[in-house]
Amino acid sequence: MKINLTTQSLFQQKLPSVVLFAFEGEPPKVPASLAPLLQGLNRQEFHGENQQTLLLHTAGHADIAAARVLLVGLGKHQDVTRERTRRAFGTALKRLRDAGIDRTAVQVHCPSPDSLQTIVEAAGLVSYQFTQFKADQHKPALAALTICVPEGSDLPATQQLIKRAQAITESANYARDIANQPGNVVYPSVIAAYARQLAKDTGLKCTVLDKAALQAGGFGGLLAVGGGSAREPYLITLEHRGARASSAKPIALVGKALTFDSGGISLKPGEKMDEMKFDKCGGCAVLGAMRAIALLKLPVNVIGVIAAAENMPSATSYRPGDIVTSYKGADHRAVTIEVLNTDAEGRVVLGDALVYARERHPQAIIDLATLTGACVVALGGCAAGLMGNDEALQEKLRSAGEATGERLWPLPLWQDYKDKIKSDVADIKNTGGREGGAITAAAFLEKYVGKIPWAHLDIAGTAWTTEERPYLAKGATGFGVRLLLETLTQWGSGLNRPPAAPAR
Ligand code: BES
Ligand code: MN
Ligand code: ZN
Repeated sequence: MKINLTTQSLFQQKLPSVVLFAFEGEPPKVPASLAPLLQGLNRQEFHGENQQTLLLHTAGHADIAAARVLLVGLGKHQDVTRERTRRAFGTALKRLRDAGIDRTAVQVHCPSPDSLQTIVEAAGLVSYQFTQFKADQHKPALAALTICVPEGSDLPATQQLIKRAQAITESANYARDIANQPGNVVYPSVIAAYARQLAKDTGLKCTVLDKAALQAGGFGGLLAVGGGSAREPYLITLEHRGARASSAKPIALVGKALTFDSGGISLKPGEKMDEMKFDKCGGCAVLGAMRAIALLKLPVNVIGVIAAAENMPSATSYRPGDIVTSYKGADHRAVTIEVLNTDAEGRVVLGDALVYARERHPQAIIDLATLTGACVVALGGCAAGLMGNDEALQEKLRSAGEATGERLWPLPLWQDYKDKIKSDVADIKNTGGREGGAITAAAFLEKYVGKIPWAHLDIAGTAWTTEERPYLAKGATGFGVRLLLETLTQWGSGLNRPPAAPAR
């Protein structure tokens, strides 16, 4: 999708269409000659309700150059949020796509970083389709969007903001494209190949530990989980050095990348098992975030660690009852795990990855994982679970979630939950029972991070969608990429916003 920028008004655009936002109960602001047309329609067909659309022909109206006007409602003026605007604009662009229109324009009255990013995100995300394996072509995606800003706007600065938003949005789509591919196409070594290629393209540093290196290093968790598959496990690291002081402690992003999770010997039921190709979404979010971080040259040091494996049942699988020894790292004693369920594999691979990240003395660790069905039960697809050991870090992430629409909701990590993963025969066991399942999984992870500020995002409910959303097609959502970029951008500038009010 190409984005053009102009200080000409929306109504001067000679295009097949323009999009016009309207608030509920307020007549849309249009040139005088269009007013009669709108007044006639207003009450019956269009009230400006949230996401309501109306496509009008403009033939004969001298004050407007475009062939059509698509009205789209934002709801009541006082209720408008960035997420509402994203949803309304996404809905509008889909309506145009359905009508076979692939070029349009929109007016941004106050071209702030936030408003431009909102528009660019909605357009970029709604334009993504996963077409790799389909011969018959779908509706043409949006080819070009013209953004109209007021006369006197600083065009070079605005152009920069648009470019930045495009880099982030395209990185989210890059993550979606990897995540949407099935387990027979994307397996752990393919994730490693994506990371290597990304490093080549962006200047990141990439390190890949293959099975032999994992064995030499004692990465017992990743080896146990990956042991049942013909596709060998990998531990992948990407590094970005952007801080002015090169000695600055990095921020570590850790992602779960199970390219397929059958459950292993504790086999999952067949229903919906296909969706477990999305069990790599945490790792894909780390790839996407590292891509954007590198492209935008964020002034922070960041290290991305991805634990990639496939969880399969076979003669070489790990089994219930096994005791597995995690990677011990340089500075502390290895944690031993009593495996009670081979389907609780995410925490087992993440244990190794967290210790590996910890060896780099990060100032903070943020992990993303499609970790538990329990989190899906608790929050559905509306928010990811947020847990950790550091209030300030959690608040940074939560407010970035409000800004990006990638919402997070806190769950408590009390001692009572930590007690539930005590084992009789090892340091911890890998399940804490059905109750509070998202939290006992986080309690497991906490064993590996020690005192380092750490936040865990359980993205099991948000990483993919089985229903089309206003600006997201079915499939992988890229959840986490925009959220992490927002978090790290605020981090770098040191300018934390006041906590945002929870969006409606
Ligand atoms: N990848 C799954 C979690 C999952 C399930 C994500 C459904 C999205 C939708 C994870 O590896 C898993 O299987 N977790 C188990 C843990 C249990 C055995 C303690 C779960 O949640 O059932
Ligand atoms: Mn599992
Ligand atoms: Zn899993």
